Amino acid sequence: MAKKINDFIYYVGVLNPNSRISDVIVKTDFGTSYNSFLIKDKKIALVETCHSDFFEDYLENIKEICDLDSIDYIILNHTEPDHSGALKKIIKLASNAKIICSKAGAIYLKNILNQDLDFIIAQNDFELDLGKNKIKFISAPFLHWPDSMFSLLENKNFKALFSCDFLGCHFCEPGIFDFKIKFLSDYDLMLENYFKNIFGSFKKYVLLGLEKINGIDLDFIFTSHGPVLTKNNLLGSVIEKYKIWASEKKDTKNKYVAIFYCSAYGNTFELAKKIKTGILERNKNLDVKLFNIIEHDLNFLRNELNKSDAFLIGSPTINRDAVAPVWNLLTGIDAINNKNKNVAVFGSFGWSGEATDFIFNRLKDLKLKVFEDKLKINFVPSGKDLESAKTFGFEFAKSFV
Ligand SMILES: Cc1cc2nc3c(=O)[nH]c(=O)nc-3n(C[C@H](O)[C@H](O)[C@H](O)COP(=O)(O)O)c2cc1C
Ligand SMILES: [Fe+2]
Ligand SMILES: [Fe+2]
Repeated sequence: MAKKINDFIYYVGVLNPNSRISDVIVKTDFGTSYNSFLIKDKKIALVETCHSDFFEDYLENIKEICDLDSIDYIILNHTEPDHSGALKKIIKLASNAKIICSKAGAIYLKNILNQDLDFIIAQNDFELDLGKNKIKFISAPFLHWPDSMFSLLENKNFKALFSCDFLGCHFCEPGIFDFKIKFLSDYDLMLENYFKNIFGSFKKYVLLGLEKINGIDLDFIFTSHGPVLTKNNLLGSVIEKYKIWASEKKDTKNKYVAIFYCSAYGNTFELAKKIKTGILERNKNLDVKLFNIIEHDLNFLRNELNKSDAFLIGSPTINRDAVAPVWNLLTGIDAINNKNKNVAVFGSFGWSGEATDFIFNRLKDLKLKVFEDKLKINFVPSGKDLESAKTFGFEFAKSFV
């Protein structure tokens, strides 16, 4: 059902309370929504579309407010299919509508829709006059794709930002407004989860995005997932939270080295302990922590890995491979922000010893700075092997401190 927001703006998005995962990796424990808005003025603009699975409901919502062929513009602030999925069908019906997107957005849309379209490319500061409302487009790349932009609506009585994923949240309650949220602590949880998963790799761009809207006296922020943010409710606090999360600085006094390992019979664990000793011999001020991977929550470990200044991975070889918990951890590496991070690999093996090579190659493929020596010890480490482990730790630490 469409919902009137004010004299000009209507909510025509779709709620998906049953969603439990988005983009393969982002948990949506409380569902999500695909928000889309109609701005009805002398000219009519549709902002974002929705996921293709919900096209029928979406279409009904739009039809409640206007005829499809009366839509003049379809604004896509970002072209990911949760926003562009219904576009192919919509443009068949909204035959008079021109699509407005960024330059990158136009390139992506051509390959998403596999058809040539006449786009209006919104350069930074490009303005669109709808009648009583004006929309100014603000380039905001990497929030979270290179195509993303904001649309700022200026009316003599209010200002509203259409920010797409930025400041959004996978959360679904029927009230659609922030002041109607019933389970606020769940919203808070999902807001942070969303930030970490979608914007955690793009903190620099988050701060730039915030700068671009700094000082604008906004009455609404219309994100494309989760509740509408309003001036007297959560709008300011969500911006503030993004500022804090994107600005988190590491303790630069002591570098943090994390050692992650798995060990069936304690052999790889013995190596891990000696490596730690070696690292601390090189510099006793380093903060070195050991983590037995199977004893911790994976998200916690991924967080430690991503915030470390350097890390090591240890795995025994079991059935000619590194063990599954190690791979699980390795799939969660933020390859963007960990590029060139110092890493090293070690492990105990029995006969074939593939684990260390496989991990080594994976880390190289992700473009981390992999310490060229691998510590590969046969079965139970001898006194001499333990000395080698200490030296390995020392030399590894020497490569960056
Ligand atoms: C079920 C099982 C399968 C194994 N498969 C291999 C293998 O394919 N290649 C190899 O080099 N070692 C293999 N090993 C030997 C282990 O890598 C070796 O015992 C190692 O020292 C274990 O180290 P950990 O105590 O740190 O787990 C296997 C061991 C077990 C228990
Ligand atoms: Fe997105
Ligand atoms: Fe999205």
